[in-house]
Amino acid sequence: MRTLLSSLTAIGLAACLFMFQGCSEVFENTSVKPALVQEDGITHFEVNGKPFLMLTGELHNSTSTSESYMESIGVWEQMRYANFNTVIASCSWDVIEDEPGHYDFTSVDHVIRSARKNGLKVVMIWFASWKNGNSTYAPSYIKRNPVTYPLVQTQDGGFLNVLSTFGQESLKADRDAFAALMQHINEIDRDYTVIMMQVENEMGILGSVRDFSPAAQEAWEGQVPSDLMEYLSSHKGQLFPELERVWGENGYKMSGTWEEVFGTSHTTAEDILTDYPYYTEEIFQAYHYAKYVNEITAAGKAAHDIPMYVNNWLRQPGMINPGQFPSGSPLPEVIDVWRAAAPAVDFTAPDIYISEYEWVLSQFALSNNPIFIPECRVDVSKALYAYGEYDALGFAPFGFDGAQNATGEYSADFENLAKCYKILSGMDQMIIRNYGSDKLRGLRVTEENASPSVQMGDYILTARSSVRNQRAFNYGQGAAQMARENAQLAAASQQQAQSGALILQTSPDEFYIVGINVSFSFAPKDADAQTRIFTDAIEEGTFVKGKWVPGRRLNGDENRVGINGVGAVRVVLYPSAATVQGR
Ligand code: DGJ
Repeated sequence: MRTLLSSLTAIGLAACLFMFQGCSEVFENTSVKPALVQEDGITHFEVNGKPFLMLTGELHNSTSTSESYMESIGVWEQMRYANFNTVIASCSWDVIEDEPGHYDFTSVDHVIRSARKNGLKVVMIWFASWKNGNSTYAPSYIKRNPVTYPLVQTQDGGFLNVLSTFGQESLKADRDAFAALMQHINEIDRDYTVIMMQVENEMGILGSVRDFSPAAQEAWEGQVPSDLMEYLSSHKGQLFPELERVWGENGYKMSGTWEEVFGTSHTTAEDILTDYPYYTEEIFQAYHYAKYVNEITAAGKAAHDIPMYVNNWLRQPGMINPGQFPSGSPLPEVIDVWRAAAPAVDFTAPDIYISEYEWVLSQFALSNNPIFIPECRVDVSKALYAYGEYDALGFAPFGFDGAQNATGEYSADFENLAKCYKILSGMDQMIIRNYGSDKLRGLRVTEENASPSVQMGDYILTARSSVRNQRAFNYGQGAAQMARENAQLAAASQQQAQSGALILQTSPDEFYIVGINVSFSFAPKDADAQTRIFTDAIEEGTFVKGKWVPGRRLNGDENRVGINGVGAVRVVLYPSAATVQGR
């Protein structure tokens, strides 16, 4: 009987499958789903079962709402030209849901279809309840009904254009729309062209330190929820330092109101590196954003389980108080709160437009949060630094689709990015294999640090800008060529902030350096007056499918380890003393 039933079921299933294949795109996903895999404290991103280095960029907010617009500006050609393997595109809530519960995914389908055709993966942003703090992407039926979908209120009772995290109906509507989107992706994206989702965009309250609406006020006067207290208690000693400090200074209480547990905030501050004004308000707000977003993310994952993250508008000079930057945003100082209240969210990512780039990465990397930079200006030195020093999952210049001028030429920065991604795409597996090891490092030359160094094995490598205030070296090239070289150096000098490198050590004396406008000098790890470091070989070249393809052997006049523009070199070093002493 059992056998018969199973045979009948099998025949039925086969028939259904046949029908589906004939008339629709309802499939089971057949490839391996993308996943974040932890190994020795390092997070690897696997796509199709293989480690994946995202070489990507983010489209302007509205670009992907129109297929014809995307084609008209040649954006897919642009991505191929720049050697992207992934694009960050968006899905707008108001575009897919015009009436309650009525969804139209046309604006999503064309992105997935075109990406697939162009051999690209997609990270999709869910622009929904919040985008840059505000709620401009909510469907019209929500925006126009603040009674059902309440807004944040300021202390004086005014309304902000920000949906309140206390709006249960807003949460349900956002959650259902996101679940429908993920269900749709599940049905049409059987090869996992969409590899990751960003849930909301730079959320948090702009214009108030916290929500003062009646529901928010009641929560503020109530007890700190037990899930947060339990998280703090089980992570005591490992919390973000400021959180640990305020909780400790208030006696490590295990219950109480927000101000009893975390104290009454100080309200003035000058320094983004050390001050956290209105911190208790920020913690409160972070908890409520995290709760809301967790429900949305969990519902999305239940429909289609791929990695999902949240992103940030950062604290910055002149915007130190919550409310000047979005209050409640998943910033490092509240990452523990987010982890307690939003376990469905995989990580938090910085959009970095401020100059404290290295500091931002160091903060976001605390407590093993993987580094992914979904928005940044086009700057190859920043990309190399993130991959080399922070084992980044990916780096993305924002709004790359504006990089062409009127005659269709790309900016110099974009050209550099294309060259950099080309080299990295040829060595992506080598890079990822070395994540977590001291054989892979990154350096940036900045105004504050004009000669950063790293120790790798027996050597100290020191980087300097190869272009700042430099004149072309006269090797008899003639006046015209000399003028061209000086013009190149002057142009490169304009982008003087862009100097840096990723360094991979492949044997005790051998290094591959991918860099931009950078030169290197070498010293022994243990300084002694006699030993100097000489170069045995310097070779320019590139990587193709994991293999080094050498170009010129650099000798004579070119015998300096320097990279003008973007390039890669292989360098073999030896210590002078080793030669003498026959090491
Ligand atoms: C940050 C936002 O996340 C993006 O959507 C976009 O608005 C950029 N700022 C503009 O610079």
